[in-house]
Amino acid sequence: MSLVTMREILPYAEEKKIAIPAFNIDTMEITQAILETVEEENCPAIIAVGQAAIKDGKLESLAATVRTLAKDMKTPVVLHLDHGQSVEQVVKALCAGFTSVMIDGSKLSFEDNIAVTQEVVRIANAAGASVEAELGAILGSEDKPFLVRVQDVIDFTAAVKVDALAVGIGNAHGLYKGRPNLDFQRLQEVRDVTDVPLVLHGGSGIPDDMIQTAIEIGIRKINVATEIRMAYVEGLLSGSANGDYYEMVKAGKASVKARAKSKIDLFLRK
Ligand code: G3H
Ligand code: ZN
Repeated sequence: MSLVTMREILPYAEEKKIAIPAFNIDTMEITQAILETVEEENCPAIIAVGQAAIKDGKLESLAATVRTLAKDMKTPVVLHLDHGQSVEQVVKALCAGFTSVMIDGSKLSFEDNIAVTQEVVRIANAAGASVEAELGAILGSEDKPFLVRVQDVIDFTAAVKVDALAVGIGNAHGLYKGRPNLDFQRLQEVRDVTDVPLVLHGGSGIPDDMIQTAIEIGIRKINVATEIRMAYVEGLLSGSANGDYYEMVKAGKASVKARAKSKIDLFLRK
């Protein structure tokens, strides 16, 4: 089937009280492995292209890969720009066939975050794409967290209509040192003031029980990047004994598939 937007699949997540996985793809092989897994598991999924892959010059090529492979799938798939940095980058992604974009204005002032998100919503909606915004900072695991403010959620969602909202509740990109310090009370307070589907970034390394709590409170999309990359590298290394390239790739893909399946089982409460 052709690609869908987050608008088609997030209501399903709300209805079932589950979270849709958003897997970052960094190579064609990871893309193949992720799409095979979501098809086998019959799991609607968000396929995200992040800033590292874009810096590596792969915005268009990864988009073309996803579009081509998704045509033969039965499972709905969203092609999503992760942590979009500017209106220009959003436009580039939409031209490359993305059906969803995130505009990350979390480093801007609150007013500028609203302004850039309004502009992105105007452009993306005209192109039929969905939009994710961010409030509160999702930093590296070493940085001091900046938690989302409940009043900001009220004011932001009154000013701009987004399809998903990423919130900073102490979550961070990369692996955590020890058990993450997630502020579930803050998440509950946010949930109480908005119906916009909430997104948890920094999904790698969050223990299963905390993921379950986040979903129970109302997280409807969870981003996983680092664990997918690590699984690929581990698989490649495990398959490298006789130096055969395709043996390595086969092991890399199998490792990604196993990791993605474990996240699907957890997020869909299988
Ligand atoms: O936007 C991407 C994610 O938030 C992934 O975070 O690398 O910690 O899984 P992660
Ligand atoms: Zn993120």
